[in-house]
Amino acid sequence: MNDDGTNNNNSPLAIIIFGATGDLTHRKLIPAIYELTEAGKLPEETYIIGFARRDWTDEALREAFKSGIEEFAAPKPPLNDAITKVLQNSFYLRSTFEDPDGYKRLCDKLESMQVKNILYYLATPPDEYATIIAQLGTAGINRQPRGWTRIIIEKPFGRDLESAIALDAEVHKVFAENQVYRIDHYLGKETVQNILVFRFANAIFEPLWDRRYVDHVQINVAETVGVGTRAGYYDNSGVIRDMFQNHLLQLVTLTAMEAPFGFNADAVRDEKVKVLKALRPIRGQDAITNTFRAQYVSGLMGEKRVSGYKDEEGVPVDSVTETLLAVRMYVDNWRWAGVPFFVRSAKRMPNRMTQILIRFRQAPLSLFNWTNLAGDAPNTLILTLQPNEGIRLEFGAKAPGPVNQILPVNMEFDYDETFGSEPPDAYERLLLDCIMGDATLFTRADEVRSQWSYVTDILDGWEANPIRNMPVYESGTWGPPGLDEFIQQNGLSWR
Ligand code: BG6
Repeated sequence: MNDDGTNNNNSPLAIIIFGATGDLTHRKLIPAIYELTEAGKLPEETYIIGFARRDWTDEALREAFKSGIEEFAAPKPPLNDAITKVLQNSFYLRSTFEDPDGYKRLCDKLESMQVKNILYYLATPPDEYATIIAQLGTAGINRQPRGWTRIIIEKPFGRDLESAIALDAEVHKVFAENQVYRIDHYLGKETVQNILVFRFANAIFEPLWDRRYVDHVQINVAETVGVGTRAGYYDNSGVIRDMFQNHLLQLVTLTAMEAPFGFNADAVRDEKVKVLKALRPIRGQDAITNTFRAQYVSGLMGEKRVSGYKDEEGVPVDSVTETLLAVRMYVDNWRWAGVPFFVRSAKRMPNRMTQILIRFRQAPLSLFNWTNLAGDAPNTLILTLQPNEGIRLEFGAKAPGPVNQILPVNMEFDYDETFGSEPPDAYERLLLDCIMGDATLFTRADEVRSQWSYVTDILDGWEANPIRNMPVYESGTWGPPGLDEFIQQNGLSWR
């Protein structure tokens, strides 16, 4: 919908990327813009303006875009019409983010292109967000007379509740909430969206999806990568800000939410916010007992020895930033009362894996006095979000033959086998949704606030009870023994 209430999604569009010389643009945004161009999903006239500080030219920008597409579009494309079109329509605007003259030149450029619709993308370090937004307001290019103006804001959106509220206030001085698209790329992943389809397009699981039948939930996001060259950002964030506040809480809300009354932006986000509001706060000393933190040290990733967190360039030697975090959570509502959600995420794990696991309760009576290799509670539903996307239901079956034995077996759905193709990259989906004006897969202001409210309690609890000896784990292992003890306190074990 346009700023004036009409619709014109095929009209000339300008995508202005602030921070166009950075990593995100190179690895994600430009490849996604290329894929969308190639698929014919963008308006015929789509211009890309890279706004950044470096001393680049149109040519340098196009070179960088070309190499980004060649390296990160999948499968690697030969030089084709779509690449040529993206490059021809890309322009560089050199300016600092504070300089009003840069925005004046942007204004002129947009006018000369006669674009109707404008999409700003903030891909800069977050401390630039407020400046850029204020400047767009001052330059008067925050609304369009005959089109729409939208802004995508990358995470992190604030670093605690207070700063998120302050940033929101700045944003709302210039943009209405329906112009603002806070991106969480996990929501653009096909398999993450499939959580909702699995739950709400099928009737058989939903009646089991509550405290009466579910024993506990585990959400695991394991990464093999370390912090690489991002230490400056990461050391001030840790897993809690980098992954938990956004991606992991998204997975929790999608798993725990009630069915929305419709699949639209407000209905879906209303239900997600209700879950966040129902999370039992973790305050004070509870922040120590209900979380577990650790940091990676050097170790073997496959054959290769990699450095420890504190040896990464830019990490202070006395850093107590966690690279592994586990949290014991409770959703205090009618559906989930008493069901623990164990959520963990870590870098430098042996494998990359994102899974949601629903462990169902055991059968009420043990009838079979047989060898049971499936265990007491054999029913587990596992949604694997990456890699090898799929859904598996585990249950016990009688082993064939005269020996009475129960074995664990699976019913399995595999994305690759069924659909045969790689799911599109999350950024592709999200950019297109924003252009179509669909904010369902973006985070609303009150949602971010509720996320931060929960996380800030934990951060305050940590600050009030400083950790003396941060547990460590060798890179390439599944974490220190304390991680197992953490879940064993509830008589459970990690998957
Ligand atoms: C980003 C984090 O948001 O998500 C990174 O900043 C993390 O630290 C990444 O590696 C993980 O995303 P994905 O899509 O690889 O699971």
